Amino acid sequence: MGKKITEHVTWVGKVDWEIRAFHGEEFSTHHGSTYNAYLIRDTKNVVVDTVWTPFAGEFVRNLAREIPLESIDAVVANHAEADHSGALPELMRALRPGTPVYCTANAVKSLRGHYHADWNFQVVKTGDRLSLGSTELVFVEMPMLHWPDSLAEYLTGDKVLLSNDAFGQHYASEVLYNDLVDQAELYAEAIKYYANILTPFSRQAEKKLAEVAGLGLDIAFICPSHGVIWRQDPLQVVRKYQQWAAGYKEHQVTIVYDTMWGGTRRMAEAVAEGLRDSDPTLVVKLYNAARSDRSDVITEIFKAKALAVGCPTVTRGLLYSIAGLLEEIKGLKFQGKVGGAFGAYGWSGESAGLIAQRLAEAGFEVVGEGVKAMWSPDEAALEQCRTYGRELARRLAGL
Ligand code: FEO
Repeated sequence: MGKKITEHVTWVGKVDWEIRAFHGEEFSTHHGSTYNAYLIRDTKNVVVDTVWTPFAGEFVRNLAREIPLESIDAVVANHAEADHSGALPELMRALRPGTPVYCTANAVKSLRGHYHADWNFQVVKTGDRLSLGSTELVFVEMPMLHWPDSLAEYLTGDKVLLSNDAFGQHYASEVLYNDLVDQAELYAEAIKYYANILTPFSRQAEKKLAEVAGLGLDIAFICPSHGVIWRQDPLQVVRKYQQWAAGYKEHQVTIVYDTMWGGTRRMAEAVAEGLRDSDPTLVVKLYNAARSDRSDVITEIFKAKALAVGCPTVTRGLLYSIAGLLEEIKGLKFQGKVGGAFGAYGWSGESAGLIAQRLAEAGFEVVGEGVKAMWSPDEAALEQCRTYGRELARRLAGL
């Protein structure tokens, strides 16, 4: 059933405690997620977003318990990704024919592309206003945060920012509000969401955050489309986004490797020793890519000033865990990070060079050509790795 947030706004979404992977199997959701939809009741009644397709029937039935469906005057579709628009076809079949769907011009394309339906689309742009009676919706286009179609809106009177994916977290909760949940879990899920989904769009995020700040909106609630609603110091998440969008780094180096018989693992540990020798205050974290959650590893790369990647050479190339990770890193467009490469080999020995090349292509400032060790690394090879770790630490000065 719905949960009342303000005089005019009621949460009518779905808490999904079960989901453990999002975007297919792409993004791990250890704490589940929520698909937040909102009902605004004023002289006009508006539904903002829906829920993921498997919950469409449940969503429309619950909404009908909250309000007679014939009294809904309009729908706002902030984004066409199926976790928010999946119940739209069922909802539109249940509403009065011709009920308007407010969305961006790009969302007309993406919604038509998904559902092949010709609903009564009403295109809105930044600054457009929709009067609901005593309140008004003020629309703000959010292109590439994180799709071209993304839209947010501000409800005057109740001072609610309905931000869609921005400021969300994959975090199931029955209590709905940021001040009522475990703060460490909430922070971890919020930064993981930014790191894995929004990093490539940080430049757009920085500009959009400045633009929204310039509007001088008095915001009492930020209602994203996933996770908890920010009501206690709601702007804390905006301040975090400003930091995360502006080349965020902690004093950390993340080392990610894969290994077949332990040689490259021992090299990773020696690189870590060198880093710690140089700077005992440095946080150094090691992950075996094949045994670690990829979305969590990406979050640790996001936090780091430097990333060192290790892999043995196999059939003149890389193990798939490292090759896949490097491909993802390239797409994420991390800014201003140092890179390192290393790997054991038996005869041809391409891995360290390939890693260095791919990190450079992904925008990392790679230190040297990386370290290679033939067969099982001996003490001399491990000392080379420690020296490389010390060199990586020196390159972090000033970052
Ligand atoms: Fe971009 Fe939550 O969907």
